[in-house]
Amino acid sequence: MALSNKEKTLIEDNLNAEYLCIRKYQQYAAMAQDSKLKQVFTDLSNKEQQHADTLNGMLSGSGMSSQNIFGTYNSPQGDFSSVSQNLGFTDAQLLNDMLSTEKHVSSSYNNAVLESADTNIRKQLQHIQKEEQEHAETLFKEMQSRGWYKV
Ligand SMILES: [Fe+2]
Ligand SMILES: [Fe+2]
Repeated sequence: MALSNKEKTLIEDNLNAEYLCIRKYQQYAAMAQDSKLKQVFTDLSNKEQQHADTLNGMLSGSGMSSQNIFGTYNSPQGDFSSVSQNLGFTDAQLLNDMLSTEKHVSSSYNNAVLESADTNIRKQLQHIQKEEQEHAETLFKEMQSRGWYKV
């Protein structure tokens, strides 16, 4: 199926956001002090990779695959929790930063859903958006269980 220029642009914007999420979750997994939090960030990084794969599938399925300069990078190797401490990053700050990133990504998908003309594309974007909301909920619960998020 052919994508409109608008759909293509919105999918590419979201793909950039997914690559940023993957990068940050991997980095924050290496930087977090708490071992459970490291696992949470690693799991979310893998979920964002699935989103990136889905978006790339939409682009290539319509013969519109494009080079993305954010798609390749070197993953952090090893444990950087001491670097995080040296930089003055707390686990609360890492969680809070990702929560605010997820909120941004979710609203970006909301925009893409509203602008997509193709039913199948819209459904796939809606599905991803729902998962982004679940990511935000996961982060929120991690914060709340540590007393870092007051409701
Ligand atoms: Fe995502
Ligand atoms: Fe996400």
